[in-house]
Amino acid sequence: MKKIEAIIRPEKLEEVKDALGKYGIRGMTVSQVVGCGLQKGRVGVYRGHEYSINLLPKIKVEIVVNDTKVQDVVDMISDVARTGAVGDGKIFIFPVENAIRIRTGEFQEEAL
Ligand SMILES: Nc1ncnc2c1ncn2[C@@H]1O[C@H](COP(=O)(O)OP(=O)(O)OP(=O)(O)O)[C@@H](O)[C@H]1O
Ligand SMILES: [Mg+2]
Repeated sequence: MKKIEAIIRPEKLEEVKDALGKYGIRGMTVSQVVGCGLQKGRVGVYRGHEYSINLLPKIKVEIVVNDTKVQDVVDMISDVARTGAVGDGKIFIFPVENAIRIRTGEFQEEAL
């Protein structure tokens, strides 16, 4: 199992959620976060000055999936969330040791 953590533009959430739903992803966690990347949170043209860091609102989507689905999910999020402008976001992938459904005690992939 892997956790896919995607930081995306807030205006892309609905589209990403719909794409994941159509693909059959049922469980996900969505948070409102703030962050910055290479441009230190500046939205305009970067003029090469030493700007202080500015944190912009982003959405974090976390999905735990079987290893076999990782590439599909990453491709889907990338396609939907891309505008081509700076600040489109980033995807991080983590190994997941275990998952447990509290109601039933099911674990590993059965718990997803
Ligand atoms: N190295 C990082 N570690 C943790 N979070 C990050 C990192 N880089 C980016 N993020 C998160 O992703 C969000 C979007 O980053 P962003 O798309 O601006 O990345 P970038 O590397 O600057 O690429 P781009 O040049 O396309 O803007 C940030 O606001 C932050 O929340
Ligand atoms: Mg950036």
